[in-house]
This record gives sequence, C-alpha cells and structure tokens, in this order.
Amino acid sequence: MEDIIVSAIDHKAPQYQQVWNVREEILRKPLGRSLKDDDLSRDLIDTIFIAEHKGKVIGCVLLHRIDAGQAQLRAMAVYNEWQGKGVGRLLVQAAEQYAIANHYHRIILHARKVAVGFYSGMGYNTYGDEFTEVGIPHFMMEKNIGGGIGHSL
Ligand SMILES: CC(C)(COP(=O)(O)OP(=O)(O)OC[C@H]1O[C@@H](n2cnc3c(N)ncnc32)[C@H](O)[C@@H]1OP(=O)(O)O)[C@@H](O)C(=O)NCCC(=O)NCCS
Repeated sequence: MEDIIVSAIDHKAPQYQQVWNVREEILRKPLGRSLKDDDLSRDLIDTIFIAEHKGKVIGCVLLHRIDAGQAQLRAMAVYNEWQGKGVGRLLVQAAEQYAIANHYHRIILHARKVAVGFYSGMGYNTYGDEFTEVGIPHFMMEKNIGGGIGHSL
C-alpha cells in the first residue's frame, strides 16, 4: 500500500482523463452504459480524489458541494484488480479529511446496493427506501463528520 498515493485534483488536471476511464470501465460498461451519455457538469466544480500507483490512476471518488454544511460522495470506483486492497478506504478517508477541513458536517451518497457493506464499514448509515439509478438498486447513505450538527455533546 505504500506505493499508492492519494491526492485531490480538479477536472483541469492531466489525470482527469484517467478518472473518466476508470469510471467508464467500472461504473458504466458493466451496465451496458457509457459516461458519454451522462451529464458530467458537476465534474467541473467537484473536488476529485485519485489513488495512483506508479503514475496510473487506479481509483477515484468525487466530492460535490451540496450546501455550506453538506457534501456528496459520488463516482466511487476502483479497478477490479485493485479492489479489496484498501484503496477505496483510502479514497473515502481523504475525501472525509478534506470535507472536515472545509467545515462540512455531513456527507451523503447514493450507494449501489452491492456497495452498502463497504460504506457501512466506513461509518455510513442507510436512510429512506431503496431506489433505482442507472438501472440498479441504490440506498441513500449518510455520515456526520467533524464537530458540526449531529455531534451534540
Ligand atoms: C466498492 C469499492 C469502491 C470499494 O473499494 P475497495 O478498494 O475495493 O475497498 P477496500 O479494499 O478499501 O475495502 C474496505 C473494507 O470494505 C470491505 N468491502 C469492500 N467492498 C465491499 C462490498 N462491496 N461490500 C461489503 N464490504 C466491502 C472490504 O472487505 C474492507 O473491509 P475490511 O476493512 O474489514 O478489510 C470497489 O470495490 C469498487 O469500485 N466496486 C465496483 C464499483 C462500485 O460498486 N462502486 C461504488 C458505487 S456506489
């Protein structure tokens, strides 16, 4: 794991094309879909966290500002051969650290049903009913972070 570097970039960074590639490969192709059909306008304003191994992007997650206190994790993907090695955990932790430093108190996300266990292990709780997105079942999940609302003493 010491060879893996996690950093924050934006859509103008040279690695953005590789971020697009991992999302296409892991999140869209298995569903018979393409990112080319998605509205990627949020990518232009989101903070993009990447995990790199020897200069190649192996995983990503995007953090989207909802309002002053809340942000959304989205587009979480790790290449198949790197899954189960702690890369996803590193990415979520980096995004949470950034979110805390930027005074967000709550992170939400749309979790694919198959990934709910991953986020549960990272301290996220489901809320609301199951819903369909990109043709597959999802749950809303949330986590209170930092010292803001939800951390009453
Ligand atoms: C889900 C995903 C992002 C997790 O990343 P990862 O690098 O494989 O996860 P990690 O190795 O950091 O796992 C951290 C912990 O979560 C567990 N975990 C990983 N994926 C899991 C899953 N789908 N369900 C339940 N637990 C899972 C791991 O076993 C590990 O547990 P441990 O700390 O007890 O050992 C990755 O597997 C992936 O890209 N999957 C396909 C795309 C996807 O579903 N993205 C999420 C869309 S919401």
